[in-house]
Amino acid sequence: MSVSVTTEMTRWCVGGDFEIDAVRTNGPERLVDLLGGTGSFTASGRSAFGRVLAHLKAIGVDQIYVPSFLCESLLQPIEALGMEGAFYVVSPDGSTSDRPRAGAVLVIHYFGWTNPLADELAADPEVILIEDFAHVLPGSRKPVPGANRYVVTSLRKFGPVPLGGWCSIGHESTQVSDGMEAAYLRSIQARLQRGAYLADRSLAVDESIESNYRRELSDVETFLDDHSVFSGVPEEALGLAASLPWERIGHRRRENWERLNQALSPRVRRLHDELPPAVVPLGFVIRDANRDRLRRRLATRRVFCPVHWRTPGAVPDQVVEMNWLPREGLTLPIDQRYDASDIDRLASEVERASE
Ligand SMILES: Cc1ncc(COP(=O)(O)O)c(C=O)c1O
Repeated sequence: MSVSVTTEMTRWCVGGDFEIDAVRTNGPERLVDLLGGTGSFTASGRSAFGRVLAHLKAIGVDQIYVPSFLCESLLQPIEALGMEGAFYVVSPDGSTSDRPRAGAVLVIHYFGWTNPLADELAADPEVILIEDFAHVLPGSRKPVPGANRYVVTSLRKFGPVPLGGWCSIGHESTQVSDGMEAAYLRSIQARLQRGAYLADRSLAVDESIESNYRRELSDVETFLDDHSVFSGVPEEALGLAASLPWERIGHRRRENWERLNQALSPRVRRLHDELPPAVVPLGFVIRDANRDRLRRRLATRRVFCPVHWRTPGAVPDQVVEMNWLPREGLTLPIDQRYDASDIDRLASEVERASE
């Protein structure tokens, strides 16, 4: 018997890690097709980046420029390999007036939108470009790797994929450690638990179950941080990623984004006010001067929004100023788990919490 059942709230929620509701098994070959060519699969996006960095280090590159707005997990492999990271300033749309003129540079396509800096840098013979496609839905836009143009991605941002990353170099499969197998099973177990728990969203909240799957999933992230270079991925994890209905996922996310945009504009400030045809959004990013208060209020209404991203401590103060996203940005979930009625409810929760 649980002692922490909260009767006044139902399990309806928006946000949080993806749960698994069906496990199909396709072969990983389909992924190669989606990703647009041969390369190496890794356990995570950060270890795909680590794989490319290790290659660059082996050919004598010791320093990498990374944008001041980034996911902290990307700093892990830089540190693990003993390389030097330097930051360049980016605006909320990813543009910069501070672009590195030579050397290895990481460019992120933020939230699914194309970052034009990638093509600009790719044309510069002095630059070694690493393009991060983690926010781009696999299959929605094919990367074009080339000499001095490397691609890394994560398969974990758009669906219930416990482990999975890819980079455009190599083709060998890396040995999968026992620890990584265990992390995979742990993540699956937590996601199945979440799926079973959320199967009937009209039931009361049980905090002990929620805190259990959150803890399990967060332990897996810590493990991935500690294994950010050369980490092989279990075949079953790739099978899971290969089995997702990627096209349908893209379609639903676009529909949800458009519906929320209509409901919230122009009262709520947004990062983007339109959705270009080729873009599948990672989320719906809004701006609020009281972002943390808004986030807390939404969480009490069971709307759980990620912050992309707080500024890592390693970024120097003078570099952070011009980008409001780390201080004021909040990502509203609009993913395929939600239908029009969820989006309408989400819109009214956001309006209420913003008052
Ligand atoms: C743009 C970007 N690249 C890479 C990563 C790392 O991916 P993973 O969590 O699979 O290591 C993240 C993580 O959120 C990300 O947002």
